[in-house]
This record gives sequence, structure tokens and C-alpha cells, in this order.
Amino acid sequence: MVSADFGISLLSTHGTGKQGMVHHNRLIENQAPAGNAIVVKGLIKSFKRLKVLDGIDFVVKQGTVLALLGPNGAGKTTTVHILGTLLLPDGGKALINGLDVVKEANRVRSLIGLTGQYAALDEYLTGTENLHMIGRLYRLSHRDIKRRTRELLELFDLVEASNRAVKTYSGGMRRRLDLAVSLIASPPIIFLDEPTTGLDPRSRLIMWNIIKQLVSSGTTILLTTQDMDEADNLADRIVVINGGKIIAEGTADELKQRIGSERLEITVSEASNFDEAKKVVDEDGLHVDSKRRTLSVVTKGGVHQLKQVLSNLDEAGINVESVSFRSPTLDDVFLTLTGHTTEQSKGETKAQQEG
Ligand SMILES: Nc1ncnc2c1ncn2[C@@H]1O[C@H](COP(=O)(O)OP(=O)(O)OP(=O)(O)O)[C@@H](O)[C@H]1O
Ligand SMILES: [Mg+2]
Repeated sequence: MVSADFGISLLSTHGTGKQGMVHHNRLIENQAPAGNAIVVKGLIKSFKRLKVLDGIDFVVKQGTVLALLGPNGAGKTTTVHILGTLLLPDGGKALINGLDVVKEANRVRSLIGLTGQYAALDEYLTGTENLHMIGRLYRLSHRDIKRRTRELLELFDLVEASNRAVKTYSGGMRRRLDLAVSLIASPPIIFLDEPTTGLDPRSRLIMWNIIKQLVSSGTTILLTTQDMDEADNLADRIVVINGGKIIAEGTADELKQRIGSERLEITVSEASNFDEAKKVVDEDGLHVDSKRRTLSVVTKGGVHQLKQVLSNLDEAGINVESVSFRSPTLDDVFLTLTGHTTEQSKGETKAQQEG
């Protein structure tokens, strides 16, 4: 159903023609001096009795990337759908380049590109044909369509598969083609709903590079992700959302100051020693996972801290299976901000507000 929605949105996004292009250039020139591409104020949305967005506020400056970071069911896709004019909010306001997404939905559509969480492609057309079709809907010139198609197929490593029907594509290939399709008209504002979910590490890096290129050429991007590392890598600002509320907001560095930039993770050899190990490793922001017998702490003293922790464990007669350094995960972010993991927060109706 979602993909059908996106199909419709793509259609309606493009029917602007030459006039639409003039229109949209003028809109960019007429930007408010503040330079906010996206302004969201007190956004509220419920599905029947389920409150999904409970007063969301954020702004995205022109030419920057904002990451909406949150677990399953946090309200990320709902937010993107409202901003993309696919869904009406119950309350609050959302502006795209100063245009109201409810009252001026058609004009908003001429400014945005949207890639949904699920691919919206024509299964029976080839990769090339899908790109051509959307290019025509955007009223690009024949030459531009051919040029963009060639560029995007190369960029997304789809040249070899370009003449095969999409129904023969793997999940990752569909994902890549879907992203390529949303980029064909180079809209000034792009929404990417979990752009790298389901991609292998190489395709993920390709996507990251594409996002970086788009931003360096002035595009504004709002992306959703469940991956702290992705938000850290791409976003100028991160908004952490849970249960329809914003629980933290800031630059990656600001968030990392609160949650730590890197974690030292120790796996204890025997489960019987685990409780004792917890007492021995009594460091800042200790997170424990008893199933995996791991303890992780925010790194501070580098090698010195590592030596200290290991020698304390050794003195207590606790065997260590492995030691590693890793970036914080979404779970680390959540544990630090809310005191519970994303898994535990799923069933909750009320998210904790930022303290
Ligand atoms: N059309 C709908 N009807 C009823 N409930 C809905 C509908 N769309 C979303 N929801 C509910 O709203 C909540 C938020 O959903 P949303 O899709 O925005 O979450 P998300 O942050 O995108 O999650 P995910 O990471 O799983 O994609 C969920 O509890 C979901 O079940
Ligand atoms: Mg979603």
C-alpha cells in the first residue's frame, strides 16, 4: 500500500512542466532570509486512538542534512509522509521553503523528491525504462533523461542489470534503483526514508557518497535511520525520536558528548562470572548485555583505561573472551537517553522527555 502511495506521489510531483520549473526557481530565490528549507512546529498525528506524533518541532537549514533517528514505530515514516504531502497532520504546521504542506501541497510537491521505505517501481519495466518513465513524468528533456539515466545507473552500479525487468532484481538492487528514480529530477529538497536499510556495506557506502554529493551541491536532505553510525556520518543535525516525541536533538558531536563517541566492549568468558564482572567494571555509562555476556563503557582514557579495566578483571579472576572498540549503536543512544533499550521502549506509550 505504501508503495502505491509513493507511485501516486511521484506522478503528482512531476506534473509541473516548464512553468513549474520557473516557479520553483523563483521560490528558491525568494527563500526567507533564515534559510530554513523545512520547518516543523507542534506536529500531531493519530491513527484512530493511537497517538503517533505528539508535538514534533524541528527545522532543517537549506543545504544541510537532518537525520531523524529512532527505533521501529517511533514516527519517522509518518513525519516524512506528512512533509511529503502524502498524509494530513491532525495539528501543528509543516513548511517546505515557507510553503504549507497542507494548504500549498501542489507547490510543495514541485520542490521535493521522496524515496519511501519500500521500493515503488514498475516490476515489468527494466531499470532504464523505470528511470525514463519518471524522467518523462518530470518533463525533463529527452537529452537530460538519457544523460541522468546513464549517470544514475553508473552511480548505483546498475549498468549491467539496466535492461532486465525489475522483477528479476534482488532486494538491494531494487532499493538502489528506487533511490536513483527519486534523484532523476534533482529536486532541491529530498526525503529519504531509511535509505540504506537492506543494502550491503558497499552499496551503503555508495549511497552515503551520493548523499554527500547532493548536499555539497546545495540539496537539503531529511533522512530517517535506525543507525547511529549513519546519522553520525551524514547529518549536520540529529533529532532522536521515540514514541512520537523528540527525546534529544543536536549535532552528532553534541549527542556524542552525551552518549560517548566510542565504546569499549568486553565479553566475559563464563556466564557465572558476569555479575561479578559488572561490579568490577564500574565505569561511566556502563551498559550490560547478559545474554551476550558483554559489558560496554564510554571510552575515556584510551589504552590506559583498557589496561586498568583488564587488570581489574584479572585480579578478580574473571576471564575475558574478547575486547573491542566500537561506535555507539542506537541502543547505546537509547540506554543513555532513556534508561532503556529500543526493544523495551517498543511497548511503551509514553516516551520520556529530554531532561
Ligand atoms: N496507516 C496507519 N494506520 C494505523 N497505524 C499506523 C499507520 N501508519 C503507521 N501507524 C503506526 O504509527 C506508529 C509509527 O509508525 P511509523 O511508520 O511512523 O514508524 P517508523 O518510525 O517509521 O518505524 P520503522 O522504523 O519501523 O519504519 C506505529 O505504531 C505504526 O504501527
Ligand atoms: Mg518507517
